[in-house]
Amino acid sequence: MTSAVHAFPDNAAAAGRFASALGLPLRLIGTHVFPDGESRPTVEARAGETALVLQTLARPDGRLMPLLLAADALRRNGAARVDLVAPYLAYMRQDRVFHPGEPLSQAVLGRMLSGAFDRVLTLEAHLHRTPDLARVFPGREALNAGAEDILAAGLSRLRPGVDLVAGPDAESRAWAGEVARRLGVGVLVAGKTRHGDREVNLQYPEDPAVRGAHVALVDDICSTGGTLAAAGRALKAAGAARITAAVVHGLHDRATARRLAAAGIDRLVTTDSVLGPGRRLPVAETLARAWRELDARPGPD
Ligand code: R5P
Repeated sequence: MTSAVHAFPDNAAAAGRFASALGLPLRLIGTHVFPDGESRPTVEARAGETALVLQTLARPDGRLMPLLLAADALRRNGAARVDLVAPYLAYMRQDRVFHPGEPLSQAVLGRMLSGAFDRVLTLEAHLHRTPDLARVFPGREALNAGAEDILAAGLSRLRPGVDLVAGPDAESRAWAGEVARRLGVGVLVAGKTRHGDREVNLQYPEDPAVRGAHVALVDDICSTGGTLAAAGRALKAAGAARITAAVVHGLHDRATARRLAAAGIDRLVTTDSVLGPGRRLPVAETLARAWRELDARPGPD
Protein backbone atom coordinates (compact mmCIF):
# COMPACT_ATOMS: atom_id res chain seq x y z
CA MET A 1 0.00 0.00 0.00
CA THR A 2 1.30 3.41 -0.94
CA SER A 3 1.59 5.69 2.09
CA ALA A 4 2.05 9.17 0.66
CA VAL A 5 2.63 11.24 -2.46
CA HIS A 6 5.85 13.25 -2.38
CA ALA A 7 6.37 16.25 -4.65
CA PHE A 8 8.64 19.20 -5.22
CA PRO A 9 7.01 22.55 -4.37
CA ASP A 10 6.63 23.64 -8.01
CA ASN A 11 4.48 20.55 -8.63
CA ALA A 12 2.50 20.83 -5.40
CA ALA A 13 -0.84 21.75 -6.99
CA ALA A 14 -0.87 18.88 -9.52
CA ALA A 15 0.49 16.44 -6.94
CA GLY A 16 -2.17 17.58 -4.45
CA ARG A 17 -4.93 16.82 -6.96
CA PHE A 18 -3.43 13.39 -7.62
CA ALA A 19 -2.96 12.65 -3.90
CA SER A 20 -6.53 13.58 -3.08
CA ALA A 21 -7.83 11.44 -5.98
CA LEU A 22 -6.06 8.54 -4.23
CA GLY A 23 -6.97 9.66 -0.71
CA LEU A 24 -3.29 9.93 0.24
CA PRO A 25 -1.42 12.67 2.11
CA LEU A 26 0.86 14.98 0.15
CA ARG A 27 4.35 15.56 1.52
CA LEU A 28 6.46 18.33 0.05
CA ILE A 29 10.12 17.67 -0.68
CA GLY A 30 12.39 20.34 0.76
CA THR A 31 14.73 21.95 -1.74
CA HIS A 32 18.11 23.50 -1.28
CA VAL A 33 20.43 24.66 -4.03
CA PHE A 34 24.06 25.12 -3.06
CA PRO A 35 25.87 28.22 -4.31
CA ASP A 36 27.59 26.08 -6.97
CA GLY A 37 24.22 25.03 -8.42
CA GLU A 38 24.08 21.50 -6.97
CA SER A 39 20.80 20.55 -5.34
CA ARG A 40 20.00 18.76 -2.09
CA PRO A 41 16.38 17.71 -1.58
CA THR A 42 15.11 16.76 1.88
CA VAL A 43 12.33 14.23 2.39
CA GLU A 44 10.12 12.90 5.10
CA ALA A 45 9.42 9.15 4.93
CA ARG A 46 8.25 6.55 7.43
CA ALA A 47 10.15 3.28 7.85
CA GLY A 48 8.87 0.62 5.47
CA GLU A 49 6.49 2.88 3.56
CA THR A 50 5.89 2.77 -0.17
CA ALA A 51 6.59 6.28 -1.34
CA LEU A 52 5.23 7.71 -4.55
CA VAL A 53 6.91 10.72 -6.11
CA LEU A 54 4.97 12.81 -8.60
CA GLN A 55 7.13 14.90 -10.88
CA THR A 56 6.47 16.16 -14.37
CA LEU A 57 9.55 15.91 -16.57
CA ALA A 58 8.98 18.80 -18.95
CA ARG A 59 12.20 20.90 -19.15
CA PRO A 60 13.78 17.74 -17.76
CA ASP A 61 17.47 18.43 -17.34
CA GLY A 62 17.02 20.60 -14.25
CA ARG A 63 14.41 18.25 -12.79
CA LEU A 64 16.07 14.86 -13.23
CA MET A 65 18.98 15.21 -10.81
CA PRO A 66 16.84 16.48 -7.88
CA LEU A 67 14.39 13.66 -8.62
CA LEU A 68 17.08 10.97 -8.48
CA LEU A 69 18.44 12.49 -5.27
CA ALA A 70 14.95 12.55 -3.72
CA ALA A 71 14.44 8.86 -4.55
CA ASP A 72 17.74 8.04 -2.84
CA ALA A 73 16.81 10.18 0.18
CA LEU A 74 13.43 8.44 0.50
CA ARG A 75 15.09 5.01 0.62
CA ARG A 76 17.74 6.15 3.10
CA ASN A 77 14.99 7.63 5.24
CA GLY A 78 13.10 4.36 5.49
CA ALA A 79 10.97 3.90 2.35
CA ALA A 80 10.96 0.24 1.38
CA ARG A 81 9.80 1.06 -2.11
CA VAL A 82 9.86 4.23 -4.21
CA ASP A 83 7.63 4.70 -7.24
CA LEU A 84 7.36 7.48 -9.79
CA VAL A 85 4.39 9.13 -11.44
CA ALA A 86 5.56 11.35 -14.28
CA PRO A 87 2.54 13.04 -15.90
CA TYR A 88 4.91 14.00 -18.71
CA LEU A 89 7.86 11.74 -19.44
CA ALA A 90 10.74 13.38 -21.27
CA TYR A 91 13.17 12.07 -23.89
CA MET A 92 10.69 9.60 -25.37
CA ARG A 93 10.88 11.14 -28.86
CA GLN A 94 14.56 10.23 -29.39
CA ASP A 95 13.59 6.57 -29.51
CA ARG A 96 15.99 5.75 -32.33
CA VAL A 97 19.42 6.83 -33.38
CA PHE A 98 18.12 8.89 -36.29
CA HIS A 99 21.61 10.02 -37.43
CA PRO A 100 25.08 8.64 -36.74
CA GLY A 101 26.64 10.14 -33.64
CA GLU A 102 23.38 10.62 -31.73
CA PRO A 103 22.46 8.93 -28.41
CA LEU A 104 19.46 6.67 -27.81
CA SER A 105 17.99 9.11 -25.29
CA GLN A 106 14.89 7.05 -24.50
CA ALA A 107 17.05 4.13 -23.35
CA VAL A 108 19.33 6.39 -21.29
CA LEU A 109 16.38 7.95 -19.48
CA GLY A 110 14.87 4.51 -18.90
CA ARG A 111 18.07 3.13 -17.36
CA MET A 112 18.48 6.20 -15.19
CA LEU A 113 14.96 6.08 -13.75
CA SER A 114 15.00 2.27 -13.45
CA GLY A 115 18.01 2.65 -11.14
CA ALA A 116 16.04 4.93 -8.83
CA PHE A 117 12.40 3.80 -8.92
CA ASP A 118 10.58 0.49 -8.55
CA ARG A 119 7.55 1.33 -10.67
CA VAL A 120 6.80 4.07 -13.18
CA LEU A 121 3.46 5.45 -14.30
CA THR A 122 3.13 8.06 -17.02
CA LEU A 123 0.52 9.51 -19.32
CA GLU A 124 0.44 9.26 -23.10
CA ALA A 125 4.18 8.75 -23.49
CA HIS A 126 5.49 9.20 -27.02
CA LEU A 127 5.78 5.46 -27.72
CA HIS A 128 5.28 5.65 -31.45
CA ARG A 129 7.97 3.12 -32.21
CA THR A 130 8.29 1.47 -28.80
CA PRO A 131 5.46 -1.04 -28.38
CA ASP A 132 5.45 -1.08 -24.58
CA LEU A 133 6.65 1.27 -21.83
CA ALA A 134 8.08 -1.77 -20.00
CA ARG A 135 10.77 -1.88 -22.73
CA VAL A 136 11.94 1.56 -21.58
CA PHE A 137 12.26 0.44 -17.95
CA PRO A 138 13.91 -2.98 -18.04
CA GLY A 139 13.08 -5.08 -14.99
CA ARG A 140 10.55 -2.56 -13.67
CA GLU A 141 6.76 -2.43 -13.67
CA ALA A 142 5.61 0.43 -15.88
CA LEU A 143 2.29 1.67 -17.19
CA ASN A 144 1.47 4.24 -19.86
CA ALA A 145 -2.04 5.60 -19.29
CA GLY A 146 -4.01 6.85 -22.30
CA ALA A 147 -5.29 10.43 -22.37
CA GLU A 148 -8.10 10.01 -24.90
CA ASP A 149 -10.75 10.23 -22.16
CA ILE A 150 -9.30 13.53 -20.90
CA LEU A 151 -9.21 15.15 -24.34
CA ALA A 152 -12.63 13.82 -25.31
CA ALA A 153 -14.17 15.10 -22.05
CA GLY A 154 -12.65 18.56 -22.60
CA LEU A 155 -13.76 18.68 -26.24
CA SER A 156 -17.27 17.46 -25.50
CA ARG A 157 -17.90 20.59 -23.41
CA LEU A 158 -17.16 23.00 -26.29
CA ARG A 159 -19.91 25.02 -27.95
CA PRO A 160 -20.34 24.96 -30.89
CA GLY A 161 -19.71 21.22 -30.71
CA VAL A 162 -16.90 19.45 -32.54
CA ASP A 163 -17.84 18.10 -35.99
CA LEU A 164 -14.62 16.34 -36.94
CA VAL A 165 -11.36 15.21 -35.29
CA ALA A 166 -8.10 15.70 -37.18
CA GLY A 167 -4.74 14.09 -36.38
CA PRO A 168 -1.60 15.79 -37.70
CA ASP A 169 0.35 12.66 -38.67
CA ALA A 170 0.05 8.91 -39.16
CA GLU A 171 1.38 8.32 -35.62
CA SER A 172 -1.69 10.07 -34.19
CA ARG A 173 -4.16 7.85 -36.07
CA ALA A 174 -5.00 5.37 -33.30
CA TRP A 175 -5.71 7.80 -30.54
CA ALA A 176 -7.19 10.58 -32.73
CA GLY A 177 -9.56 7.79 -33.80
CA GLU A 178 -10.29 7.00 -30.14
CA VAL A 179 -11.11 10.65 -29.36
CA ALA A 180 -13.35 10.79 -32.46
CA ARG A 181 -15.11 7.59 -31.42
CA ARG A 182 -15.81 8.98 -27.96
CA LEU A 183 -17.22 12.19 -29.51
CA GLY A 184 -19.20 10.27 -32.12
CA VAL A 185 -17.64 12.14 -35.09
CA GLY A 186 -15.37 11.24 -38.02
CA VAL A 187 -11.57 11.43 -38.13
CA LEU A 188 -9.13 12.75 -40.71
CA VAL A 189 -5.39 12.14 -40.54
CA ALA A 190 -2.65 14.08 -42.35
CA GLY A 191 0.62 12.85 -43.82
CA LYS A 192 3.57 14.69 -42.23
CA THR A 193 7.25 14.96 -43.09
CA ARG A 194 9.57 16.62 -40.60
CA HIS A 195 12.51 18.56 -42.01
CA GLY A 196 13.94 20.03 -38.80
CA ASP A 197 13.05 21.05 -35.23
CA ARG A 198 10.55 23.63 -36.47
CA GLU A 199 9.87 22.73 -40.09
CA VAL A 200 7.21 20.22 -41.08
CA ASN A 201 5.28 19.61 -44.30
CA LEU A 202 1.81 18.28 -43.86
CA GLN A 203 -1.13 17.42 -46.14
CA TYR A 204 -4.66 16.25 -45.40
CA PRO A 205 -6.51 14.07 -47.88
CA GLU A 206 -9.38 15.97 -49.49
CA ASP A 207 -12.52 15.59 -47.41
CA PRO A 208 -15.71 17.64 -47.89
CA ALA A 209 -16.47 17.19 -44.17
CA VAL A 210 -13.85 19.85 -43.33
CA ARG A 211 -15.71 22.71 -45.06
CA GLY A 212 -17.61 24.79 -42.51
CA ALA A 213 -16.73 22.35 -39.68
CA HIS A 214 -15.55 22.88 -36.13
CA VAL A 215 -12.43 20.71 -36.28
CA ALA A 216 -10.67 19.38 -33.16
CA LEU A 217 -7.00 19.02 -33.98
CA VAL A 218 -5.56 16.54 -31.50
CA ASP A 219 -1.92 15.70 -30.78
CA ASP A 220 0.12 14.28 -27.92
CA ILE A 221 2.69 17.08 -27.71
CA CYS A 222 2.91 20.74 -28.65
CA SER A 223 6.51 21.86 -28.46
CA THR A 224 7.53 24.37 -31.14
CA GLY A 225 3.97 24.33 -32.43
CA GLY A 226 5.30 23.66 -35.96
CA THR A 227 3.10 20.58 -36.36
CA LEU A 228 -0.12 22.21 -35.14
CA ALA A 229 0.52 25.40 -37.10
CA ALA A 230 1.01 23.46 -40.36
CA ALA A 231 -2.10 21.40 -39.62
CA GLY A 232 -4.09 24.53 -38.74
CA ARG A 233 -3.11 26.24 -42.00
CA ALA A 234 -4.01 23.14 -44.03
CA LEU A 235 -7.41 22.75 -42.33
CA LYS A 236 -8.17 26.46 -42.73
CA ALA A 237 -7.26 26.28 -46.42
CA ALA A 238 -9.65 23.32 -46.74
CA GLY A 239 -12.47 25.48 -45.37
CA ALA A 240 -12.63 24.67 -41.63
CA ALA A 241 -14.83 27.25 -39.88
CA ARG A 242 -13.30 26.79 -36.44
CA ILE A 243 -10.26 24.91 -35.15
CA THR A 244 -9.68 23.86 -31.56
CA ALA A 245 -6.30 22.26 -30.90
CA ALA A 246 -6.40 19.77 -28.01
CA VAL A 247 -3.03 18.56 -26.83
CA VAL A 248 -2.01 16.28 -24.00
CA HIS A 249 1.38 17.77 -23.15
CA GLY A 250 1.77 21.51 -23.68
CA LEU A 251 5.55 22.07 -23.78
CA HIS A 252 5.10 25.33 -25.67
CA ASP A 253 5.59 28.92 -24.52
CA ARG A 254 3.34 31.96 -24.90
CA ALA A 255 4.96 33.04 -28.20
CA THR A 256 4.08 29.62 -29.67
CA ALA A 257 0.47 30.01 -28.55
CA ARG A 258 0.37 33.33 -30.44
CA ARG A 259 1.85 31.71 -33.57
CA LEU A 260 -0.86 29.04 -33.43
CA ALA A 261 -3.52 31.73 -33.34
CA ALA A 262 -1.91 33.31 -36.41
CA ALA A 263 -2.06 29.91 -38.15
CA GLY A 264 -5.85 29.85 -37.78
CA ILE A 265 -6.19 27.92 -34.52
CA ASP A 266 -8.99 29.54 -32.55
CA ARG A 267 -8.33 27.84 -29.26
CA LEU A 268 -5.66 25.65 -27.66
CA VAL A 269 -6.63 23.34 -24.79
CA THR A 270 -4.07 21.24 -22.93
CA THR A 271 -3.93 19.07 -19.84
CA ASP A 272 -2.15 20.02 -16.63
CA SER A 273 0.54 17.33 -17.17
CA VAL A 274 2.96 20.21 -17.72
CA LEU A 275 3.13 23.28 -15.50
CA GLY A 276 2.16 26.60 -17.00
CA PRO A 277 -0.66 29.03 -17.63
CA GLY A 278 -3.78 27.79 -19.41
CA ARG A 279 -3.08 24.06 -18.89
CA ARG A 280 -6.52 23.21 -17.57
CA LEU A 281 -7.71 19.68 -18.37
CA PRO A 282 -7.02 17.74 -15.16
CA VAL A 283 -5.08 14.48 -15.41
CA ALA A 284 -5.36 13.52 -11.72
CA GLU A 285 -8.37 11.18 -11.95
CA THR A 286 -7.01 9.32 -15.00
CA LEU A 287 -3.60 8.92 -13.36
CA ALA A 288 -5.17 7.80 -10.08
CA ARG A 289 -7.19 5.12 -11.92
CA ALA A 290 -4.08 3.94 -13.75
CA TRP A 291 -2.13 3.96 -10.51
CA ARG A 292 -4.65 1.66 -8.84
CA GLU A 293 -4.30 -0.70 -11.82
CA LEU A 294 -0.49 -0.70 -11.59
CA ASP A 295 -0.60 -1.04 -7.81
CA ALA A 296 -2.86 -4.09 -8.07
CA ARG A 297 -0.38 -5.99 -10.24
CA PRO A 298 1.43 -8.73 -8.37
CA GLY A 299 4.90 -7.38 -7.59
CA PRO A 300 8.21 -9.28 -7.67
CA ASP A 301 8.99 -11.18 -4.45
C1 R5P B 1 5.49 13.91 -33.08
O1 R5P B 1 5.62 12.74 -33.35
C2 R5P B 1 4.61 14.34 -31.98
O2 R5P B 1 3.47 13.54 -31.93
C3 R5P B 1 4.23 15.81 -32.09
O3 R5P B 1 3.49 16.00 -33.28
C4 R5P B 1 5.44 16.68 -32.08
O4 R5P B 1 6.29 16.33 -31.05
C5 R5P B 1 5.05 18.14 -31.97
O5 R5P B 1 6.21 18.90 -31.97
P1 R5P B 1 6.21 20.39 -32.50
O6 R5P B 1 5.18 21.16 -31.72
O7 R5P B 1 7.60 20.90 -32.23
O8 R5P B 1 5.91 20.33 -33.97
